[in-house]
Amino acid sequence: MRLFCFVLFCIAHGLVLAQEEPEYLPGGAGQPAVLDDYNTEFSRWLHDYEPIEPQQIHLSMVSDGLAYRVQFSTLAPLHTAVFQYWPAVEEKPKVTSIWNREETWEFVDGGSEHRRQYMHIFKTQGPLRENTLYHYRIGSAKSDGNAYAQDIEDLVDVTGDDDGDDDGFYWSPKYGFHTHAKNVDQFSFMMAGDLGIVNAVTLRQMTSMAQSQHYDFFTYLGDFAYDMADMNGTKGNEFMNLLQDTFATTPLLTTPGNHESNYTFAHYTNRFRSVPYRESNSLSPDYYSVDYKWMHIVSITTEPLFEMSPESFETVKAWLRQDLARANANRAERPWIIVMGHRPLYCSSNDKAACVEDTNTLRQSGLEDILLEFSVDAYICGHRHNYERTYPVARGEVTSTSYKNAPSYFQLIIGNAGNYEQNKLFTSTPTEPLVTGPWSALRYAGYGLSTVSVTQNTLSFVHWQVEKDGSRGRPVDQFTAKKDKKQNDLFPISIDLGLHKKLERILE
Ligand SMILES: [Fe+2]
Repeated sequence: MRLFCFVLFCIAHGLVLAQEEPEYLPGGAGQPAVLDDYNTEFSRWLHDYEPIEPQQIHLSMVSDGLAYRVQFSTLAPLHTAVFQYWPAVEEKPKVTSIWNREETWEFVDGGSEHRRQYMHIFKTQGPLRENTLYHYRIGSAKSDGNAYAQDIEDLVDVTGDDDGDDDGFYWSPKYGFHTHAKNVDQFSFMMAGDLGIVNAVTLRQMTSMAQSQHYDFFTYLGDFAYDMADMNGTKGNEFMNLLQDTFATTPLLTTPGNHESNYTFAHYTNRFRSVPYRESNSLSPDYYSVDYKWMHIVSITTEPLFEMSPESFETVKAWLRQDLARANANRAERPWIIVMGHRPLYCSSNDKAACVEDTNTLRQSGLEDILLEFSVDAYICGHRHNYERTYPVARGEVTSTSYKNAPSYFQLIIGNAGNYEQNKLFTSTPTEPLVTGPWSALRYAGYGLSTVSVTQNTLSFVHWQVEKDGSRGRPVDQFTAKKDKKQNDLFPISIDLGLHKKLERILE
């Protein structure tokens, strides 16, 4: 009977006993990417781009979606470029064209070939209609003379196939984004992390979810491509093109991971300069925040602690404290605060270096103290290639088993989008037992990605299983965090040690 109960407990917690970790697949870090069952159906990363043809297109946004940025790359300097966007419902589209890029710069990869590419950012100008699907495309003029001679009316033909070159321009495909709806009482966004070019099991689902226009933005939790700096940076280009149909359709809020550490994170800071860091009083795309309806969402880099110097993390923490102080002053209007970073504060594994030493380093850095001091509601992260939810937690102690008016934050690891390392199991062997804690509420070792629906008083999370054939499976986790309006004010942390002891007894 005791064995039966133990097996039931293991199944409920996704615990796998004495099962070997999957081997690494070819095409991962340090190797050229290879074709496989998941990336062959997306051909953009295999396309041979003309030097000034727009590629690697992706979106980001500023607070409340009041403006959107489009960033793209070319392999040679541009003559002239144009960004056109228009409400998709317009029968005779009145195209808004912007000719001047907000920013353009040369990015030189740090590898031996010192490969150059040119990064460009456009930003929408003026007010956008709310709750509206916009279409947009990027055009790159084949020569300066042609471009300026073009009558804008000639460029209004947006009904044809835009995926090609015409009118003296190289045109990007037509993409869409939707603006937020002020009077709607709910919005949703996507969350995923740790996606590679190889074994990108969730990519098909990720793309179709982004293209559904059901999600207002996409928080990507670090570790891109494995690695973007590989092969003199060409793997980063391939990844950004592989993901273009996703990243160009749903505004991205990203955070850097350890796999972006090459050349002082240059691939991250150049490729994702479109995130709203300047609007957040930040000096770097490594950390920034946005307000969106009832939520304040913050992205921080956890990597200085591990890949640079602990001193450089002090800059991040100082900025975070200022940002959260401002957000707390506005808590009545925006009750939810979510912080995203790459590395977890808590994880379960038989790898003590990862889930004891590294998590202790991050918790003791002062980051957890800040999350508690400013009553952050949730910390979302990746790095571990699995899914794990904690109970509301503080300094290693469970503060509540309920997510209603929780006295402290909870953490979600969502690092199972799929990459060459495959997934991390929750294994336990006689010599390397699983290290975990009573804070671990649910563990899932398969592939997947998450969504959350937000209202003024609820966060409803779903973690979707993605099958090995790339199809979407069942929700493997669903839960709702709730907050009474009176809880919008700050409240002190009180850790119920009695509850912790009770939980220990239950788990024994
Ligand atoms: Fe990582």
